[in-house]
Amino acid sequence: MFLQNFPPMGVYETLFKFQDATGQYMGDAGTSPWAQGFPLTTQLPGGPELPSSVSFAPTDLKYPAAAGIDPLRIAIRDYYNHFYGASITEDNIAVFAGGRPAIFATMLFLNPDVKVLIEETEYTPYYDKLKLLNRAHKIIPSNVQNRFRPTLEDYRKARKDAGSSTLMIKSNPCNPTGVTWENEQLQQAVAFASEQGHGAIFDEAYEFFSESGPVSAMKYVKNIDDSNIFVIGAATKGLQVPGMRTGWVIASKKHVEIFRNFSSIAMGGVSRPSQLYVANLLKLDRVEKARKAVVNFYNGQRARYKKGLEALGVELFTGTGGFYHWGKLPGGLTADEFNNRLFKHKAAILPGTLCDMNRLGAKGIHNQFMRFSFGPLSQESYNRDIEVIQSCLR
Ligand SMILES: Cc1ncc(COP(=O)(O)O)c(C=O)c1O
Repeated sequence: MFLQNFPPMGVYETLFKFQDATGQYMGDAGTSPWAQGFPLTTQLPGGPELPSSVSFAPTDLKYPAAAGIDPLRIAIRDYYNHFYGASITEDNIAVFAGGRPAIFATMLFLNPDVKVLIEETEYTPYYDKLKLLNRAHKIIPSNVQNRFRPTLEDYRKARKDAGSSTLMIKSNPCNPTGVTWENEQLQQAVAFASEQGHGAIFDEAYEFFSESGPVSAMKYVKNIDDSNIFVIGAATKGLQVPGMRTGWVIASKKHVEIFRNFSSIAMGGVSRPSQLYVANLLKLDRVEKARKAVVNFYNGQRARYKKGLEALGVELFTGTGGFYHWGKLPGGLTADEFNNRLFKHKAAILPGTLCDMNRLGAKGIHNQFMRFSFGPLSQESYNRDIEVIQSCLR
């Protein structure tokens, strides 16, 4: 092979297996896409409409500014300043084609002497990015012993052991566990990440999906320009538009300049129509409604599926955020075997092994864990979903 081989990210691996087994794309009509990390892309009860068009002028057909176009950067600035009392300017924002490239670029430019601190149970592609970029990292236990709830003390210990500059990378709410740091715990995490010579990526893809309301580290960041903090957001989940491929990093101005330079070399900016569309979604009165509707709708779905899954003997460890349930299958059943059974019903979950940052595979505890996504599910699918799960657990 002329190029170096590289496998697909775990979620896609499951999508491809599903396609081989069923001949269909997971998410198509008639499938149960419980392995998928996308939200409903239709209007939620009490939520604002999702516009079906975007208007733009001939000038919008020009190249976009490398770090993002002004209307979007201004909308993002106003959003964080309004809802989290931040005091950022548009020069603290770099726009990317979704959350993943934003995370990738941050890890790409990390100085080699900075060690990454990462929890054992985390978002699948973090593993691939660390591997691809050959980044030194320390793993913080997140397993049954601590109920997938590491504390800041665990991070302190890991930092001490690392004996170097560190970057914590944390999805908050966590994908797959839903465990969410907020209030004092998040405030202390921001203080920890603000210590001289250290930093953090707070990956806030699920910002809106938190039982007690949207959560952002930006509420506690005192002066982003004096920090190595990267708060990563995206229009993918909360704003319900994964297809717009729009995400962003909030960081110090000098770090944003690096992202701008990266864009000028490797990305060429992000589609202007997408950026204009997302800027419209962020209008303060509209986004206020969207935040409330997402919290209400997904709190309901989280509670419903919790009840249903627990009644079937799945041991749940889910926290208070995200749109996943994280649980251990009953009776020694592995997630791969469960999927083989589910495929016959055009359904699939994400095997827990793909969220194991040690990638122990069948040897590790994640083997019996699944991430069940209720993100893309309408309220109507519940009864059939539970029936299918029940029949495959037998
Ligand atoms: C934890 C986390 N971060 C970031 C993303 C960003 O996704 P995208 O690149 O689709 O915006 C996702 C989506 O699944 C996610 O789960």
